[in-house]
Amino acid sequence: MTQQKPSISLLFEPKTVAVIGASATPGKIGYQVVKNIQDGGYEGTIVPINPKGGEVLGLESYKSLEDFPGDIDLATMVIPAKFVLDSVKACAKKGVKFLSIITSGFSEVGNVEEELEIVRIAHENGMRILGPNIFGLYSGGVSLNATFGPSDINKGGVSIITQSGALGIAMIGKTKVENIGLSSIISVGNKCDIDEADLLEYLIDDDETKVILMYIEGIKNGERLVPVLKRATTKKPVVAIKSGRSKRGAMAAASHTGSLAGADEVFDFVMKQCGVHRAENLQEAMNWCKYLSEVPMPKGENVVIVTNGGGVGVLCADACEKHDVTLYDDQAALKEAFSGSVPSFGSTKNPVDITGGASMDDYMAAIEAAYANDDIHSIIVLGCETAVLTGGTLTEYIGKIFERHGYEKPIVYSFVGGSEFEDSAGVLRDQGVPMFPELYDAVSCMGVLYADYRRRGMGEEAIAEPERKPVDAERINEIATAVKADGRSFLLANEGLEVMKAAKIPMPVSLISHTMDQAVAYAEKIGYPVVMKVVSNEIVHKSDAGGVALNLENADEVIDAYQAIMHNCRNYNPDAKITGIEVVEMVKKGTETIIGARIDPGFGRTIMFGLGGIYVEVMKDVAFRSWPVDNHEALAMIKDIKSYPLLLGVRGEEQRDIDGVVDVLLKVGAILESCDLITDIEINPLVAYEQGEGVKAVDVRILLKKD
Ligand code: COA
Repeated sequence: MTQQKPSISLLFEPKTVAVIGASATPGKIGYQVVKNIQDGGYEGTIVPINPKGGEVLGLESYKSLEDFPGDIDLATMVIPAKFVLDSVKACAKKGVKFLSIITSGFSEVGNVEEELEIVRIAHENGMRILGPNIFGLYSGGVSLNATFGPSDINKGGVSIITQSGALGIAMIGKTKVENIGLSSIISVGNKCDIDEADLLEYLIDDDETKVILMYIEGIKNGERLVPVLKRATTKKPVVAIKSGRSKRGAMAAASHTGSLAGADEVFDFVMKQCGVHRAENLQEAMNWCKYLSEVPMPKGENVVIVTNGGGVGVLCADACEKHDVTLYDDQAALKEAFSGSVPSFGSTKNPVDITGGASMDDYMAAIEAAYANDDIHSIIVLGCETAVLTGGTLTEYIGKIFERHGYEKPIVYSFVGGSEFEDSAGVLRDQGVPMFPELYDAVSCMGVLYADYRRRGMGEEAIAEPERKPVDAERINEIATAVKADGRSFLLANEGLEVMKAAKIPMPVSLISHTMDQAVAYAEKIGYPVVMKVVSNEIVHKSDAGGVALNLENADEVIDAYQAIMHNCRNYNPDAKITGIEVVEMVKKGTETIIGARIDPGFGRTIMFGLGGIYVEVMKDVAFRSWPVDNHEALAMIKDIKSYPLLLGVRGEEQRDIDGVVDVLLKVGAILESCDLITDIEINPLVAYEQGEGVKAVDVRILLKKD
């Protein structure tokens, strides 16, 4: 029976830490972990466990866990894989609360069974497992470095959760180089039990943690992660870096950790939905984390660029547009603020151009003016090396102004020039000035700051549980159960139609005829033109079998089509049982869209939207969201696709019925949620007509779980 889980805070703030496999031999991991715990200044009790007993780094070791008289909050295991399972049982018996298994040799190399057994034993005894296949954890709050990574860690405001151990160790080194302080770093490895969601639960409320950085290779339980992430980002910035963007990268990631790297596009969209900032590379992630952990929230969106070079000013304005940084545009106010510091041949428009002749004093005056003006909320300072603006003056003046004002307002600097100039910029960076060699990096930091500012502004709205569209869940489950009972994991057209009816999703009128006369009667009832399609369990690809006839204009054409379909299908598969021939309303032309809902292997229930035809097939222009979403998010998803302007109407066309599309997206998600048997729903095409004229689901494919 599963026992109650211990509070995750014990993992970060243990009073007693055991090291199972503690070794007196320098160079062994069991030695390094004990040494790191000691060197890190941990003030709790350290309990080395070694079957031979004896001293480890001056501490008396215990031959077994049982020999230690007290409780153990956290045990770190560093013994060979073949001994792990027995030792896990001993930990469970001792009542260890958290077990961090550094040892490799489990699911990442195909040893899945043993890993599952470890989790089973742990959960039966109220114990949680971190790892296996990790480098351990560092928790700055209690100065605990229970890793075999570097011993020298700067304390600070960034917490890192990493799936890759080696990269995690490298990140500790990198943070040191970049002058970034850490509040914690946790290696999750195979994530057999504890995953990102568990750790976020602690980090969200941890006052020491200002920014969370996650390195992810694959998502295992996205349905649990998404709500926690949404909550986290309303409180503090979360930066993610994920490998597996390329197909090759995804394959490498999959074999590396034993977990499937989730489809990258889905990851991208879901992170955006959660308000997570996805970095393109490690350097960008580090830049963002450092900046976000130091800078205050801006008081508004007005950003001013101060530059001595028109060219870099324009490049910066472009970068601002790309990163959604809003440039202050009140020309009269800008003129008033900067006319004292800008020469007559310069420009007070934003970018504020103090021109190439500007001395450091001119810069100081312009920056002071930006700091002094309450309507300016953030500042970007750019500089090109000139005869009057040299490396020496740069260090002195910018150093002084940053010392005076610091982060009174969010500010970034980027200066371009020769080696002396760059060296001076480097000196300033070492002094803590947010100075970037590349202006694009400076602006991207400002961009994530503003994305975060907007996210924080959403407050509760960002985590509110969306209302669901009502669907007839009983009827949908009845249909799916009947299909399963029939031994199938796909729905036939008429069954799909029934599901659409249960959700009130408009489909073309359709009737199933069993005789030629009936087909004609139905066609007359529906109104010409009509489409006819074979209905048979054994014929899935109807067009290939010659089982579809389009655009039938009158009774004679219906009769001909009826005979042709019967003839073609009997030839195609003589054993096929033909249940009837469907007579369907021929839908009017409109804009073809595609809507899907499916169980993603990583994120669970997700929905998809795109425009049909080449937009989805060639351009792969689709957007995804984790389910559930509300009206607002569904609309944001539609706007995410590049071909969105086509829905707004081009070349004099009317706007399409976007509300109708939103309605179907929400209903499709609700169908998936209403029935555990359904794994995939795809409406292709969903034809969208002009605003107010609705949409029509022309074809629907629904798949069920395979046994
Ligand atoms: N309880 C306690 N101690 C035990 C034990 C047990 N059941 N079984 C063995 N030990 C002791 C050993 O006696 C040894 O101590 P000693 O040096 O005093 O003899 C110590 O534990 C370590 O065992 P050893 O056999 O020397 O193993 P090792 O140090 O060579 O390797 C691991 C152990 C865990 C490091 C190794 O198996 C491993 O998995 N390495 C990869 C780790 C990794 O890369 N993780 C992912 C990082 S990203």
